[in-house]
Amino acid sequence: MSDEARPPRTAVVIPAAGRGVRLGPGAPKALRALNGTPMLVHAVRAMAASRAVRLVVVVAPADGVAEVKHLLDDHALPERTDYLVVAGGDTRQESVRLGLEAVPDDHDIVLVHDAARPLVPVDTVDAVIEAVRDGAVAVVPALPVADTVKEVEPAAEPGGPEQVVATPVRARLRAVQTPQGFDRATLVDAHATVALAGEGATDDAGMVEKLGAPVVVVPGHEEAFKVTRPLDLVLAEAVLARRRANDGF
Ligand code: CTP
Ligand code: MG
Repeated sequence: MSDEARPPRTAVVIPAAGRGVRLGPGAPKALRALNGTPMLVHAVRAMAASRAVRLVVVVAPADGVAEVKHLLDDHALPERTDYLVVAGGDTRQESVRLGLEAVPDDHDIVLVHDAARPLVPVDTVDAVIEAVRDGAVAVVPALPVADTVKEVEPAAEPGGPEQVVATPVRARLRAVQTPQGFDRATLVDAHATVALAGEGATDDAGMVEKLGAPVVVVPGHEEAFKVTRPLDLVLAEAVLARRRANDGF
C-alpha cells in the first residue's frame, strides 16, 4: 500500500523511568501497585484501550528493563497492540527522546503519556488522536485550573516568604495532562533541536512551542490526574473502586 492509501498509524511512548521522589521511599513510581496492579500496567492498558494505538513503547528505569518486559509479558494486552521496552535517561525529556528513537518510521502519529497518569479514560486518548488526524501537529488535553495561580520570585531558602510578581487571569489558564499527541516528524524535530537544560522539559508540547509550531488544547479529564504525592495514591484507588462499583450495575 502506498503512504497515501493507508490510514495513519499511531504509537505511544510512555516515559516510566522516574524514581518518584515526591511519592516517598519505595519501588520506582511506575512499578508501585494500585489495587494490586502496577501503575505502569494500568497506564499501558489505558493506551491499548484505544483501537487506533498499534504500538506502545515503554521507557523503563535503566536497571529495570528486564523486569518491565516480564511484567508486560504477564499482563495480556489486546492482540492488535505491540509493545517494546527501552531504557530511559536521567530526565523525562531524555527518556521521551530515547522512546521516540524506538518508534519505527511507518508511524505517523506519536502520543506521549506519563506512566504516572494510569487512569486516563479512553475517550480522552481517542479525542487527542482524532485532533492530530484532523491536522493539528501538537495536541494537549487540559483542564481549567481550580486555584488562582501566582507567579513569584522563588525564595532563596525553601519556606521563606516569596515576592509575588504577577497574578495571571485564571480563566485563561489550563492545567495540562497527557497523553499529548503529535505529528511524528514535528516531535522528532523538537527533541532534536530544543536544548536539554537542567531538569529538561516536563512537557513535550512546550518543546514544540519553542519550534514556533502551533499547539492546541482539547478538553482533558479529571481522572487523567498525575500520581505525584502519597495522597494521589489514595485518590487513584478510590477512582478504581468507583469504577468497579459502577461496572456492577
Ligand atoms: N520520567 C522518566 N524519566 C525520568 C524522569 C521521569 O521517564 N528521568 C517519567 C516518570 O516515570 C513519569 C513521567 O516522566 O511517568 C512524569 O514525571 P514525574 O511525575 O515527575 O515522575 P518522577 O520523576 O518519577 O517523580 P518525581 O519527580 O517525584 O521524582
Ligand atoms: Mg519528575
